[in-house]
Amino acid sequence: MTDAAKAPALSVRGVSGGYGAAIVVKNVDLTVPEGRIVAVLGKNGMGKTTLLKMIMGFLPLHQGEVHLFGKRINGEPPYLIARRNIAFCPQEQPLFQDLTVGENLRLGLFDDDAFEAKLEKVGVHFPFLPDRLRQRAGTLSGGEQKMLIVARSLMASPRIMLIDEITEGLQPSVIERLAHVLAEQRRAEGTAILLIEQHVTFALAIADEYAVLNQGEFVDRGPANAADAAERINRHLSI
Ligand SMILES: Nc1ncnc2c1ncn2[C@@H]1O[C@H](COP(=O)(O)OP(=O)(O)OP(=O)(O)O)[C@@H](O)[C@H]1O
Ligand SMILES: [Mg+2]
Repeated sequence: MTDAAKAPALSVRGVSGGYGAAIVVKNVDLTVPEGRIVAVLGKNGMGKTTLLKMIMGFLPLHQGEVHLFGKRINGEPPYLIARRNIAFCPQEQPLFQDLTVGENLRLGLFDDDAFEAKLEKVGVHFPFLPDRLRQRAGTLSGGEQKMLIVARSLMASPRIMLIDEITEGLQPSVIERLAHVLAEQRRAEGTAILLIEQHVTFALAIADEYAVLNQGEFVDRGPANAADAAERINRHLSI
């Protein structure tokens, strides 16, 4: 593809890999067009987080290619990939617990002078944050920490977000707020999102497309508004 402006936000082609000799992700194809939300669903241990780590450069690819906005990124170190308009909300230990809320938010920014302006924007989504900048992140509630993770990733105004099971363990009101924030972020700024989820209702509420990962392979995919989407996904999640 020569015209990067027309390239998808994220393109994963024939990607395989895992941990040492153990191949966890097998020949995966996945496209997230600009401004679209794609949900990847799958049971525990199916390779969802492994796939994200491969995209972000934390794990090497055995095969395949990853392109971000038309530029091939596999083989680049994670610190360079992280500067390419991509925000990663990881599943494991995503916050610096001993840093304050404000310090965690600043970690999402490259330009510190923009902090106040960005905070104002993010504070519209999460009004509790501006008042809690000096609080240690580890002392926030579980739901507040999840919101801080999303807020931090929004600080840099990414063009694509990779979000790994953000709804895990959250109460319905927080899940609803996150659904609203992510849908609004896409609507207002055209941010593309790759959403890793097991919460089918949340995922289908905001996604354009879904794909089901089973044992490292995609076994079903389709439009999120298909009448049978939830039923098809639940069939895979319940086996
Ligand atoms: N560091 C590692 N070393 C070896 N194997 C690993 C490692 N991390 C994960 N695995 C294995 O890779 C497989 C996929 O794990 P992964 O974390 O990608 O699953 P997941 O779909 O994200 O699951 P969950 O929904 O529980 O987060 C599992 O069998 C897991 O045991
Ligand atoms: Mg995972």
